[in-house]
Amino acid sequence: MPSLFDPIELGAIHAPNRILMAPLTRGRATREHVPTPIMADYYAQRASAGLVISEATGISRQGLGWPYAPGLWTDEQTAAWQPVTKAVHDAGGRIIAQLWHMGRIVHPDFLDGEKPVSSSATTAPGQAHTYAGKQPYVEARQIDVAEIPSLLDDDERATRNAIAAGFDGVQLHAANGYLIDQFLRDGANSRGDRYGGTPENRIRLLVEVVERIASVAGADRTAVRLSPNGDSQGVIDSNPESVFVPAARALDAIGIAFLELRELAPNGTFGSTTQPKVSPAIREAFGRPLVLNQDFQHDDAQAVLDSGLADAVAFGRTFLANPDLPERFRRRATLNPDVVATWYSQGPEGYVDYPALEDESEAA
Ligand SMILES: Cc1cc2nc3c(=O)[nH]c(=O)nc-3n(C[C@H](O)[C@H](O)[C@H](O)COP(=O)(O)O)c2cc1C
Repeated sequence: MPSLFDPIELGAIHAPNRILMAPLTRGRATREHVPTPIMADYYAQRASAGLVISEATGISRQGLGWPYAPGLWTDEQTAAWQPVTKAVHDAGGRIIAQLWHMGRIVHPDFLDGEKPVSSSATTAPGQAHTYAGKQPYVEARQIDVAEIPSLLDDDERATRNAIAAGFDGVQLHAANGYLIDQFLRDGANSRGDRYGGTPENRIRLLVEVVERIASVAGADRTAVRLSPNGDSQGVIDSNPESVFVPAARALDAIGIAFLELRELAPNGTFGSTTQPKVSPAIREAFGRPLVLNQDFQHDDAQAVLDSGLADAVAFGRTFLANPDLPERFRRRATLNPDVVATWYSQGPEGYVDYPALEDESEAA
């Protein structure tokens, strides 16, 4: 069985190790959602990941409702990503862009007062992060079938921009209760048309978006992230295997580079659930590289490769706080803990100042 330190081909992307950086929203772009120079430093510090998956990046104004999160729908945003991807490449790394439409999670403050869109007219539980602080979510407007083509166009434009910006590929964010997930899971989707009801109908938008993205980036540079079990921002399915296994089969048929699953466990440290994991069934249905995430450390990540359940593991909070995570694992070094207060704060603190091992020995 492979080691975490063995290389892997993720479609057309050669990853020199199987320790991936999970997508992490950090809120260091401008208010106009333009990447900033400090983001190049942050990502370059983490270039030793087998592959860096960028923070979620808006495909359109309609789809982005997170303060200071970056986008990929304007020329200015695209140009500002170029130094970021170049810095990662110059540091010997690889980076793909995670493409994001938040659906009902977008607060009207980001939309000049208009309602956000979703699969159905539902309201997410809890409160939105906005420039005016936390505010309750509002009821979404059910997206009309006639609007789907322009949604696909937005995905296509963002993919084109990602490639122009120098990304090695893209990952569709179809997880965590955002727009695609709002279509996938029956807890949020009560549509009566061909995008709702049966699992086949609920995966239709996912498949259409992935096909459109792949037509631009190439299927072998297109990845997908799903969160099949548990509750994500009020989105949950009554029978996860019934929808996520056919979804995985459809993605396999398209020939995507890899599938990443964020799964919750009963004792999770960042969300938990009693719904069983779907990854064993997805492993059977999906013949391409499978990446698992959530709550992994060195030993249990190696164990999951040993078990044959996954080909690589993505690390979120540990990569956030340890820019040299693969080297720390290799040396079995102590890990920096992440600081929650600076997850989404602006500025360098808690962003580019987590020390690498060398910095620590210099300081000692
Ligand atoms: C600060 C922060 C930001 C995150 N942003 C994203 C994101 O932009 N896209 C995404 O798919 N998941 C996001 N996540 C989820 C992580 O990718 C990952 O699934 C989660 O941290 C669990 O993995 P871990 O146990 O290795 O930290 C975020 C998590 C954190 C802590």
